Amino acid sequence: MQYAFNEVTNTNQFYGNTTPIELVKEFGSPLYVYNEAILRERCKELKSLINYDKFTVNYSVKANGNLHLLKVARDEGLNADAMSPGEIFVELEAGFTPDQILYISNNVSAEEMQYAIDRNITVSVDSLSQLELYGKTNPGGKVCIRFNPGVGAGHHEKVVTGGKKTKFGVDPALIPNVKAVLEEYDLKLIGINQHIGSLFMDSYKYIEGIKSVLAIAENFADLEFVDFGGGFGIPYRKQYGERRLDLNELGTRLEEVIKDWMKRYGKDITVKVEPGRYISAECGVLLGTAHAVKHNYGMKYVGTDLGFNVLKRPVMYDSHHDVEIYREEGAASGKEEVVNIVGNICESGDIIANQRKLPEILEGDIIGVLDAGAYGYCMSSNYNNRLRPAEVLIDLEGNPRLIRKRDTLEDLLRGF
Ligand code: LLP
Repeated sequence: MQYAFNEVTNTNQFYGNTTPIELVKEFGSPLYVYNEAILRERCKELKSLINYDKFTVNYSVKANGNLHLLKVARDEGLNADAMSPGEIFVELEAGFTPDQILYISNNVSAEEMQYAIDRNITVSVDSLSQLELYGKTNPGGKVCIRFNPGVGAGHHEKVVTGGKKTKFGVDPALIPNVKAVLEEYDLKLIGINQHIGSLFMDSYKYIEGIKSVLAIAENFADLEFVDFGGGFGIPYRKQYGERRLDLNELGTRLEEVIKDWMKRYGKDITVKVEPGRYISAECGVLLGTAHAVKHNYGMKYVGTDLGFNVLKRPVMYDSHHDVEIYREEGAASGKEEVVNIVGNICESGDIIANQRKLPEILEGDIIGVLDAGAYGYCMSSNYNNRLRPAEVLIDLEGNPRLIRKRDTLEDLLRGF
């Protein structure tokens, strides 16, 4: 289905009882806005991906670590993965119990590893050298290992994490060495995990990755779980008719592969997936304000407060986000034009929408950048000493609630 402009948020009643204009008036601009009903719906969809008792969905908190969103995910029955002690800290604050958290570590210090061990959180290690470190830190302990089955996928080379050209995971050729280290420190390998990369829209590569990791799992007799990672894509180009990932098809294929494998393995073990973006991307819109409009050498620039300190994805990965335009006096004119929507940062690459055909934008218009709930706020920064935005949640009654304050100027002095 192809959406006309502004139809995406109209169709899903994204702003509940309020409007983007009112939200900016009340909470300021730029502003991250989340919709709780959409967040809950995405959690439910993935929880019912397959029909298998020992299936768990670990929300990948790196996509959005707002405490209030984590509480919703936990309330929906999700578990969580963590990439750092900071993520563990926030997850525990949100009420996840240690057994619900998997720490997927990557090149961590002994202190960081100890942080998880002290809290009884399972650690997945990413190399032989980190397995050694784990063994020295926690001899006789239970551990998980991230393997790289040599299959990768992703929307940009920077987010392809599996395959033969990435830093992640242990090469399965090293399985004999892995076994030797496990034995040396009397470690019990209870799980193996992988993450082939981010944003697949067709299940083929994911299923291939799963088959490879399951083949690796057969080398270890006493596993309690396998974790297939995340990467579930969302349609960032809804305004251009992009279709959703077919969860029914993915679920059916996944279930087949898993059930078949469990028979070969001889017991039913827990299966985990780790979606981040799929859970949180579509529940978030980033609102900004058009402050200046100008023509430079034939190109129209719409100058906004949406610099890449606020949303980094377009600059970092050339990512596309659909854009909506809201105007106080109502409907925009029928006129369309090709524009660059740019931010307020002192770099020419500071472009949020490049050569985009949009309804005419005037100074004072509010710009909505869609699908900004994942890798949005969490990748924002104080570059140019700009303040990170506030975050607001539209609750199930349709009312807005501030769930993170905007930075203040004083925050820029913290630590001095
Ligand atoms: N599991 C592991 C071990 C991961 O490294 C990641 C993401 C995930 C799960 C969740 O992936 P997701 O389902 O969200 O694709 N900043 C980039 C994405 C980086 C993802 C890094 N790892 C972006 O904005 O597209």
